[in-house]
Amino acid sequence: MKKHKSSNLYILAIESSCDDTSCAILENKKVLSNVAATQLIHNKYGGVVPELASRDHEKNITKVVNEALQLAQVPLCNINLLAVTQGPGLMGSLLVGCSFAKSLSIALNIPIVTINHMRAHVMAHLIESDAQKTPPFPFLCLTVSGGHTQIIKVNSPYNFELLGQTIDDAVGEAFDKGAKILGLPYPGGPEIDRLAKNGNTKKYKFSISNLNNLDFSFSGIKTSLLYFIQKQQAIDCNFITNNLNDLCASFQENLLEQLLLKIEQVVKTQNIKHVAIAGGVSANSRLRILLSDFGKKNNVEVYLPKFEYCTDNAAMIGICAYFDALTQNYANLNFAPKARFELF
Ligand code: KG4
Ligand code: ZN
Repeated sequence: MKKHKSSNLYILAIESSCDDTSCAILENKKVLSNVAATQLIHNKYGGVVPELASRDHEKNITKVVNEALQLAQVPLCNINLLAVTQGPGLMGSLLVGCSFAKSLSIALNIPIVTINHMRAHVMAHLIESDAQKTPPFPFLCLTVSGGHTQIIKVNSPYNFELLGQTIDDAVGEAFDKGAKILGLPYPGGPEIDRLAKNGNTKKYKFSISNLNNLDFSFSGIKTSLLYFIQKQQAIDCNFITNNLNDLCASFQENLLEQLLLKIEQVVKTQNIKHVAIAGGVSANSRLRILLSDFGKKNNVEVYLPKFEYCTDNAAMIGICAYFDALTQNYANLNFAPKARFELF
């Protein structure tokens, strides 16, 4: 076992808001381990089934926590802070993580910090790691996940300003719904990303609403894709199979163009020099290329999270807890999970 300095924070963080059971151990701002059990059971249903998700969390959590402790080589008795996702997310899933964390807090007699999942996606950028740079404050963060699409000005770990957000579907949701129309398995985002690599981004154009302000609307594009596919399939029943790569590349490009357009709008009007992306869709390879190119062209520093910090993970919950512990922002043990937990 490693020896630990007692002044250090040893954080055990738990994330269970959707379909990944994750536990991370942090030593201050450094991640010692970050383990996630991804639930594959949902793939055959084309989306997350809440009841099944809760049951799998319940089955996985002890194993995942033990694995994280072992990988980090930190004994449970050395943990001096707990962190858990309080919301937003699926109620049954959140309950598993929250109850587990509360039990540990009582057993170890250590404080617990409750974390907003969407804030955590952004805060993943503050994890100390050789593999990713940390943006200075203030920076702009585009948070793109399965449930949210937000443009945030991050003034400090405790001060976030919402500049724009989706008024309907999230961009990850648009990826997933588009993929479903194309007959691809859930989650569709990574599938579209993979197939788009061999496709023509300009072959098709799917209409997307461009709102005047910094808000997004992604519900129209899936209807545009659906009607187009129905029309083409009436002529050629193999249309999707014969054009799958091009359909993915064009659909993805149209979604990403919209994200880039809004970032450009903020950068040009607000003298922003540091732009980060966060959330599941920040793993998208094309988005990472487009944003890097945008950064070079506009003299803006771009921050791409490590892949393991893009999709849901407990390391991002742990880094939030580190900053919240600095202000002693601990929770009472009578806290309850929040299925809806707005950041703003
Ligand atoms: O942040 P996340 O893991 O969970 C939520 O908090 O929602 O995001 C999940 C979303 C899903 O919609 C998934 O399809 C999308 O992120 N996603 C991607 C990629 N990887 C995950 N979308 C596009 N390209 C990817 N490579
Ligand atoms: Zn998430």
